[in-house]
Amino acid sequence: MEKNKSLLKYNTFAIDVDAKYFASFTSFNDLKEIATTKEFINENLLVLGGGSNLLLTKNVDALVLKNDILGIQILKENKSTIDISVGAGENWHEFVMFCVKNNYGGLENLSLIPGNVGAAPMQNIGAYGSEIKDTFLYLEAFNIEKLQLESFTNKDCQFGYRESIFKKELKNKFIILKVVFRLNKTPHQLNTNYGDILKEIELLNIKNPTIKDVSNAVIKIRTRKLPDPKKIGNSGSFFKNPIISKNDFLKLETKYPKIAHYLISENEVKIAAGWLIEKAGWKGKTINNFGVHKNQALVLVNYGGANGSEIHELSNEIIADINLKFNIKLEKEVNII
Ligand code: EPU
Repeated sequence: MEKNKSLLKYNTFAIDVDAKYFASFTSFNDLKEIATTKEFINENLLVLGGGSNLLLTKNVDALVLKNDILGIQILKENKSTIDISVGAGENWHEFVMFCVKNNYGGLENLSLIPGNVGAAPMQNIGAYGSEIKDTFLYLEAFNIEKLQLESFTNKDCQFGYRESIFKKELKNKFIILKVVFRLNKTPHQLNTNYGDILKEIELLNIKNPTIKDVSNAVIKIRTRKLPDPKKIGNSGSFFKNPIISKNDFLKLETKYPKIAHYLISENEVKIAAGWLIEKAGWKGKTINNFGVHKNQALVLVNYGGANGSEIHELSNEIIADINLKFNIKLEKEVNII
């Protein structure tokens, strides 16, 4: 157990605040032992995976638990599928690369997403037409109150767009320890419908793409558009893409015929928040050492040494401005601590 520990290394936004207490664990038994300490019993808890989806705005008055459970295990396989269990502390992208290398399909569209495996189900990470709910089988998590392991099936997790039960009713009640995926063997069902992937594969002149080609295409697109958290602090998309009614959309479209959008049901349209933020003039805006990324307006960035509460203020200004200009209320995707 450490005291007053800097969290700079533990969050991809690279915000330098202290945790009142800090402990890491590499196994269920480790965690059970930590659970007997007075700090675990008396303090608030904050569980960190890769720290890739949070903005720290002040010193953290809590016991910060760093999940370092590693290991990839094949549980069972048949001719067409394979069930793989992964420790929550494994790096997400390295796990995806392991799957691509071994020709296990289903996660290739989710290449290069920062963070750890344990955080992935929390917000049902998604990109380029795939979400983890598409391949997720179940997870095991530690019940903080009852101090026991519990399993959650795909249905139990109540996955939605960047949502799960762990962000709602069960927020702060469980610590995810391992996640099991059911992946596909050949022939793979590729998901290359997302415009950018199609374009990239055509550009590379590939006729019969493999999961490796799709993964490479995603890596190319992400590298072009999204800042590398190792170089520029960020937490990926700061806001969710808002969903509005078709009626409201049709009104907007008459005013802004080029508005980037996707029809998600008969009556609902998802609007690209990046488009709205760019249109409102925020893209690339820099205030001292932080701002809005120049290639993807959904991403707020810390160029070094920025203060989390200032970035939080900027995000609120953007929300107010988008509300004023488009009458759409953006929601944050990132957890504000
Ligand atoms: N756009 C703009 N300006 C911008 C950014 C985007 O006009 O600054 C337009 C683009 O031209 C495009 C549309 O918006 O027409 C969509 O852009 P993009 O393909 O980059 O995707 P997104 O909707 O902005 C979402 C996810 C990303 C994910 C991509 C690809 C959310 C909140 N974000 O972004 O996820 O990588 O789709 O699937 O849903 C993340 O969650 O951290 C993340 C990066």
